[in-house]
Amino acid sequence: MEGMQDSYIFECKGVSKSFGGIRALDNVHLKVEKGEVHALLGENGAGKSTLMKIIIGLYHADSGTMTFEGKPYSVKGPAEAINYGISMIHQELNPGISFRKTSPFVFPS
Ligand SMILES: Nc1ncnc2c1ncn2[C@@H]1O[C@H](COP(=O)(O)OP(=O)(O)OP(=O)(O)O)[C@@H](O)[C@H]1O
Ligand SMILES: [Mg+2]
Repeated sequence: MEGMQDSYIFECKGVSKSFGGIRALDNVHLKVEKGEVHALLGENGAGKSTLMKIIIGLYHADSGTMTFEGKPYSVKGPAEAINYGISMIHQELNPGISFRKTSPFVFPS
């Protein structure tokens, strides 16, 4: 709806990413309002991790834009993303790292 854009804390517009000939993400749009909880569902290889890795700066999108509080959002990696309160818990957990050690990244202050 027009005029509602300011309520979104985070937004992706038209994000695409290919790996060689594989189009992992094709024109992804995501709008997140403050306080919302979203679940991103999809089959294996659907592109869920790729989108998250772009958001935390591990991958660079081929095209598209992201905004945080309405301003352009672009980070060089997870250490910068955490300044925005954005972090990722990778599905491939290192069994040597305990939850206690990883939890500060789960709940940034
Ligand atoms: N670093 C990479 N190099 C090449 N191809 C990749 C890379 N990362 C992801 N892909 C490919 O991009 C597509 C999306 O993968 P992605 O890991 O984002 O899916 P996913 O939804 O997280 O899957 P899963 O449910 O298995 O975790 C797949 O075809 C995958 O093989
Ligand atoms: Mg994944």
